Amino acid sequence: MTAHKELTIGLFGFGVVGEGLYKVLEKTPSLKAQIKKVCIKHPDKKRQAPASLFTTDKDELLHDPCINVIVEVIDDADAAFRIVSTALKNGKNVVSASKKMIAEHLPELLNLQQQTGQSFLYEAAACASIPVIRNLEEYYDNDLLHSIKAIVNGSTNFILTKMFEEGLDFKQALILAQQLGFAESNPKLDVEGYDAVNKWTFLLTHAYGIIEKPEDILFTGIQSVNAGDATVAKEKNQQIKLVAQARKLHNGKVAAFVLPQFVNHDDHLAFVKNEYNGVVIESGFADKQFFYGKGAGSFPTASAVLSDISALRYDYRYEYKKLYHHHPLVLSNDVYLRTYISFDDWSFVPRNDFEWIEEWHAGEERKYLVGVIAFEKLQKDSWWKENNISLVLAADAIIESIELRSLKKKSLELAGIV
Ligand code: HSE
Repeated sequence: MTAHKELTIGLFGFGVVGEGLYKVLEKTPSLKAQIKKVCIKHPDKKRQAPASLFTTDKDELLHDPCINVIVEVIDDADAAFRIVSTALKNGKNVVSASKKMIAEHLPELLNLQQQTGQSFLYEAAACASIPVIRNLEEYYDNDLLHSIKAIVNGSTNFILTKMFEEGLDFKQALILAQQLGFAESNPKLDVEGYDAVNKWTFLLTHAYGIIEKPEDILFTGIQSVNAGDATVAKEKNQQIKLVAQARKLHNGKVAAFVLPQFVNHDDHLAFVKNEYNGVVIESGFADKQFFYGKGAGSFPTASAVLSDISALRYDYRYEYKKLYHHHPLVLSNDVYLRTYISFDDWSFVPRNDFEWIEEWHAGEERKYLVGVIAFEKLQKDSWWKENNISLVLAADAIIESIELRSLKKKSLELAGIV
């Protein structure tokens, strides 16, 4: 039996995740991993660990030859990138949970891994306790991976659950998410969908070999979802979730986006409440598979960091199989989306942009329509994010261009127009 490597850790950050990791490591001595030093920003904060463990000097960790693993769980993406690059260049393996940093610097991080030969693992950066990256990386060939849809942000799922199932208002629900340590220090990143699209950026790399910048992926958050939308969802026996999805199209490319969506009551994602995350994968022969677990919080996130640390003992590294060993896929705009749009004022909704409209409702307060629109139009224009307009995808949202004509005909026939 090969003896596993001893790991000596330099930890950056002692917030929700860092402290969680410290406690979790204390409870797993069998791992033979020890934190030698923790680099923090504010030395005066009271912490439940010996003072001798802490320093504010990053070089004490980055230049210590005894430290062979840097774990970075800070929330300043620029500082995190500097730490990770220096650590890799200094011959250290790195474990990170900084989704924003990874999404924004993925090409450089790929180069650094190739140049240095060091391992850079970040399972905790997406869906916290769910081992989604390793599964996408190791298990699925991209020929088999038809689609993935997922709830990847715990805070927004928590807020939607508390608002629409327990009657809290938005502010109360957000404060609770912050108190429980789920939300980002700038909660706009959660609420407006930035955190989810950041995670989706690198999950697309592991799923399909796609390299994109987060700002080039269509997304929004839950900032405009309102009580009227939730009432419509209830009437249809559905729920509203912030869903990240990707689907392989007939043209061999991938449609991907992060948008609020109506989810049928018997959909796996409807089962995902509060800070839980869920991932539904549809593959060639296995049909549907559902991964479920806590997507935010101290111990669930620390558990994924711990698993990465443990994987370093046998020199595990991501091979980015879909990118380097397969034919990497690219994103496509050639798709149409069935969308529900609610609004106060008709004049802000460009009705002629829709291929066809399937439902109109005009209440006194709020109006809505359900219609099919080209993905490209949503990507190009921003009317649907302005003037108190709320966009929620229909449950069966994705329409490929080859299906468009027949679906349009059917829909117009149903409406008695042709
Ligand atoms: N703010 C993030 C979330 C933390 O709510 O999902 C976990 O990445």
